[in-house]
Amino acid sequence: MTTTPHRTIGPQLDHAFVERLAARRPTRFQHNLPGHPLLSLDEIARLGEELPPASVSVEVGEKPIAAGAAEGVAVQVDDIGAAIRNIATTSSWFTLLHIHQVDRYQLLVDEIIDGLAATSGLSPASLRRRMGFLFASSPRAVTAAHFDIEHSFCMQLQGTRTLGFGKWADDDERAKDVRDYWNGDFGRFHTMPATTDEFEIGPGDGCYIPPWTPHWITNHDETSLSMTVTFFNDDNEDESLVQAFNTKFENRGLHPRRYGVSPGRDRAKVRFMRAYGATKRRLGMSDSGGGSH
Ligand SMILES: [Fe+2]
Repeated sequence: MTTTPHRTIGPQLDHAFVERLAARRPTRFQHNLPGHPLLSLDEIARLGEELPPASVSVEVGEKPIAAGAAEGVAVQVDDIGAAIRNIATTSSWFTLLHIHQVDRYQLLVDEIIDGLAATSGLSPASLRRRMGFLFASSPRAVTAAHFDIEHSFCMQLQGTRTLGFGKWADDDERAKDVRDYWNGDFGRFHTMPATTDEFEIGPGDGCYIPPWTPHWITNHDETSLSMTVTFFNDDNEDESLVQAFNTKFENRGLHPRRYGVSPGRDRAKVRFMRAYGATKRRLGMSDSGGGSH
């Protein structure tokens, strides 16, 4: 992949990436985040202390890749900062969720996504609902197999890991897992998907993780620090709105058409869900979950 003259600290992509994003193809890239002052172990620990408890997720480090529901591997930690600073020896796995709720990290998430847009030729305004996540995990820790509905860009800061990609056996399996996702299962796999690709990523390496693409990560023998930024564009926003619509009806025993089968019906469902979401927001009801892991 050739580089462009645009200088960015985040993913260094080129115009060929636009097609890969549209085709949802995993794509490796380089970035310049290692050494960034907001991304040292100590700064990540400080952010962990600053975030509300609901934005810090802790799990057992060494666990099966197909770990099933998060509750089964969750860990309760009292001193978040100390536990992150001692991550080399605690066999644990930390996610700091929605780091963009802290101003200095929101600026960083925007800088990374705007840079990604500039190097690839995408419109920055088309990359919406931008979110940021930081991960700190012990040697040999595992990020359990799951899928996300966002476009995700995983950027390794410290340590080396193997990122695996997989696929569903068929469309029915995908549809079942999608329905479970919208019913609160967060896209975690109980059995291992078939492997399609494996990438080794070290400091300065990164990978585009497409939406609805099974993936998992295993740390090598060092502590791992990484950052992920995510966004929605028309592609995954439309599909997610149709899935949310369909799940409401499937839960009542109906069988609405899957996304992609009938584009006209998909557009009508998207319009309905946008109006429904706007109404809920007007009434002060939450309609957002979101979260990469
Ligand atoms: Fe993920």
